[in-house]
Amino acid sequence: MKTLFTATALRGIPLKNRFFRSATWLGMAGPDGRVTKDIVDVYRDYAAGQAGGIITGFTSVSPYDGELPGAVRLTHDSYVEGHRRITEAVHSEGSRIFLQAAMLDTYVPDELGRGVLKPVTELSREDLRSIADVYRDAAIRAEQAGYDGLQIHAAHHFALSKCISPLYNHRHDEYGGCAEKRARLLVDIHEAIRQTVGRQFAMLIKINCSDFIDGGLTIDDFLTACKVLARAGIDAIEVSGNYTSRPNIRAGVNEAYFREAALKLKALVSVPVILVGGLRSLETVNALVERDGIDYVSLSRPLLSEPDLIARWLSGDSRPSRCVSCNSCYHTPCHKCVLRLRGA
Ligand SMILES: Cc1cc2nc3c(=O)[nH]c(=O)nc-3n(C[C@H](O)[C@H](O)[C@H](O)COP(=O)(O)O)c2cc1C
Repeated sequence: MKTLFTATALRGIPLKNRFFRSATWLGMAGPDGRVTKDIVDVYRDYAAGQAGGIITGFTSVSPYDGELPGAVRLTHDSYVEGHRRITEAVHSEGSRIFLQAAMLDTYVPDELGRGVLKPVTELSREDLRSIADVYRDAAIRAEQAGYDGLQIHAAHHFALSKCISPLYNHRHDEYGGCAEKRARLLVDIHEAIRQTVGRQFAMLIKINCSDFIDGGLTIDDFLTACKVLARAGIDAIEVSGNYTSRPNIRAGVNEAYFREAALKLKALVSVPVILVGGLRSLETVNALVERDGIDYVSLSRPLLSEPDLIARWLSGDSRPSRCVSCNSCYHTPCHKCVLRLRGA
């Protein structure tokens, strides 16, 4: 039987438990998306707080991408050194760290190499290739910076999430139409990276289990895309969804809102499944792992509130997370929990 606090490995990369810190954009980057000391300190704290795996916040990997204020970038070799400070801090505490590789939207280079935004349906083959190339280049840099792997961000209606959604993708070629074809760019990206990085570099994906919008990605589309990715050799799938950070979650009442989708995925593929979304109590995460067989559980807002929550649970203090999902963290500078800002 799986248990929460036993060590596991993902593509041979040891993880000290089954907890992930889910990607959370911190808004703390310096000018031009540079890594700052504050960012390094946040990740060191998560590692010291016993998160087995840490997924960085949204990191823009395309030099053609739009602006997301305060977001970290990894779009040029000169960024590698800053990222290395993050990975060294995390590794020194015995945790593992994966870069969340993201694009704000489907920006591609024009003839002069400037970024232009094109709707998914209008992307040429060359444009699609350029997107796979920026992910490959980011993976090379991530590996140089010491990351244990990379998570492709294909959730929450950012660029790749749009590519797989019928709401945005109205193509009629091999990159559009059925769910399998809409997932093809993800497979291209996976392939481009896998051909370049070493064996001990894990590739994860975060994906919507549904867009929860009429005409958007359905659960069946999600399952098909995951099946295709599993066939391609992805190392783990983090199940998220649109309407991602639901408010007013209470321990023992309405936790784990993507559980049903994760269970359907578990029944379909043998790839490790990571579940995020509204996990607040040790009892719930235990049941997800021990009873439901979910491979990893992933936390965002609870760790913004208590970076040492996992260590607290490990020490025997099993009180639930104090996070009430008020979502004020979305509106505070650097996405801090209001309870922490008040010194609580
Ligand atoms: C302030 C904030 C920033 C977030 N930034 C990201 C991000 O960069 N990438 C991402 O995939 N999800 C991001 N999320 C979503 C979380 O990773 C997570 O999927 C969601 O909050 C549900 O999990 P939770 O209930 O543990 O918070 C963010 C959430 C919050 C609250």
